[in-house]
Amino acid sequence: MAFQLTAEQEMVRLMARDFAGKELGPSAAVRERDGIFPLDIIRKMGELGLLGMMVPSAYSGSDAGAVSYCLALQEIAAACASTAVSMSVANLSTEPLLKFGDESQKQRYLVPLASGKALGCFAVTEPGAGSDPGALLLRAEEKGDRYLLNGTKVFITHGEYADVVNLVARTGPDKGNKGLSAFIVEKGAPGFSVGKREDKMGLRASNTVELVFEDCLVPAENLVGRAGQGFKIAMTALDSGRIGIASQAVGIARACLKEALAYAKERRQFGRSISSFQATQWAISDMATGIEAAHLLTLAAADDKDHGLPFTQAASMAKLFASEMANRAAYQALQIHGGYGYMKEFKIERLYRDARATTIYEGTSEIQRLVIARELLRG
Ligand code: CAA
Repeated sequence: MAFQLTAEQEMVRLMARDFAGKELGPSAAVRERDGIFPLDIIRKMGELGLLGMMVPSAYSGSDAGAVSYCLALQEIAAACASTAVSMSVANLSTEPLLKFGDESQKQRYLVPLASGKALGCFAVTEPGAGSDPGALLLRAEEKGDRYLLNGTKVFITHGEYADVVNLVARTGPDKGNKGLSAFIVEKGAPGFSVGKREDKMGLRASNTVELVFEDCLVPAENLVGRAGQGFKIAMTALDSGRIGIASQAVGIARACLKEALAYAKERRQFGRSISSFQATQWAISDMATGIEAAHLLTLAAADDKDHGLPFTQAASMAKLFASEMANRAAYQALQIHGGYGYMKEFKIERLYRDARATTIYEGTSEIQRLVIARELLRG
């Protein structure tokens, strides 16, 4: 891959940095404290083309590519990690339609999602199916020209605000991942409702809910791809999603380093700045090195995607390394802050909690290791 960014990629990065600095950073602490989902800001991000970054302009996407997407997402995450997860899921929700949707589904759903006129979410996880989506139970029974959906999805990012749900359900008699199919469900479909809103440790300005389907009728034309292809569709989308979460982790880690540097220069103990202590210097050196490595791994995965190359392994490596690194960086940055870092008035306290989710959602670190090992062993 080329390590030099193009002028266009650099421009996207600066645009996102400017937007994040003005629209997100100053209000992030209040939104997180009060659990306010920033729908208005997300709509503005849609207008800027930040929600359909990997969708061609023919379908109203900004066609910026995966590398630009990573750069922009890092900037958003450094200012507000909660908003970054929505940006990531909104972009992820364009993937099933772009890759597997037919022309009429693209016109009907992909165009509004990519242009930010509608917000999409991605619903795979169920109470009994997290790391193992092959165990999901939400049933979609064929009834003539419609499907009848019954079941529950959990932990769905911005599910309460989404206009379009990308959902995977069980259609066939086959057990495991062979009997799954992908569907589009519109907000307001009869029998579809939003259930419990989760009270989370971090990312508190991000909306996370249960979606409930009780005799919900969906037109057969909303089946995405072929019946039985649902698992593959979800995995393909998650490959892209993982590049997004890796970028979110890099952004959070960058913010941690920024806070640590500022505090280390300002704080004095034993008659001198704590930045003069070798222990502090080693911690910030390790943080900066980890961030750079994670950034490059993420860009490498994104560059493969932009060039149409397989990127499953690269995306898992980026997600694994970046999310674990972000948690180490948050730990070290909080340690540099000492007791103040444990107090809510310091930004590092929020970053520490926000970083934690990155090793869990869109595939835990253990799942990423499994994916990487399988790819390597397959040769
Ligand atoms: N791309 C395309 N196809 C893929 C694929 C990929 N990345 N990974 C697997 N497949 C295909 C395989 O080729 C195989 O196809 P064939 O049967 O035709 O050969 C099929 O899918 C089954 O593959 P596996 O046998 O590898 O499946 P498995 O059951 O062993 O599972 C797994 C593999 C990697 C563990 C997978 O289940 C997985 O990634 N689990 C984690 C799920 C996850 O990330 N959940 C998070 C949900 S989203 C979220 O977090 C919400 C949010 O809002 C942020």
